[in-house]
Amino acid sequence: MSDKGFTLWFTGLSGSGKTTISELLATELAARGSKLEILDGDIVRENLSKGLGFSKEDRDTNVRRIAFVADLLSRNGTPVITAAISPYKAIRDEARENMGDRFIEVYIEASVDACAERDVKGLYAKAFSGEIKEFTGVSDPYEAPENPEVTIKTEEEEPAESAAKLIAYLEVRELIPAAVAS
Ligand code: ADX
Repeated sequence: MSDKGFTLWFTGLSGSGKTTISELLATELAARGSKLEILDGDIVRENLSKGLGFSKEDRDTNVRRIAFVADLLSRNGTPVITAAISPYKAIRDEARENMGDRFIEVYIEASVDACAERDVKGLYAKAFSGEIKEFTGVSDPYEAPENPEVTIKTEEEEPAESAAKLIAYLEVRELIPAAVAS
């Protein structure tokens, strides 16, 4: 089976688990011989979107760039995971419009409280103290998806369970090769 292009479009708060789950999926897909590219918000902002900030306008530009690259790759048969907060529904819907059924929206759901408790990067503490302005979920909007193809509740599931759920979804849609029997 040749690779079928698709975009797993992760959306969720900072610290919700997008990067962790994308890395687990990458390992599993590699084991099945599938190609994969990950467009992670933090990494995209170091190169493709270098210099952009966190105003609505800059976020929209960042997310549109990610969608543009995801579209190019996925339409040429490369599976993609995007892992940016992508807080605005309208821009995610634009990406869906462009990619059609290659676009699979995955809501990485975790409350602000849970993300703030994890505070892996120490940013929530700074957001609550006002040191960082316009922080998603604290002082800037996050529009949760209304009809995502998949919802992953990272307060209830271990990352490995979440990854397995996504693999199962992709198998049912016949988008990835079957696991190799060991
Ligand atoms: S998006 O809104 O444009 O989709 P993106 O996912 O690329 O955001 O970047 C979010 C990451 O930037 C967060 O995980 C966090 O590490 C960092 N960050 C720094 N400032 C902010 C902020 N004001 N709001 C959200 N994330 C921020």
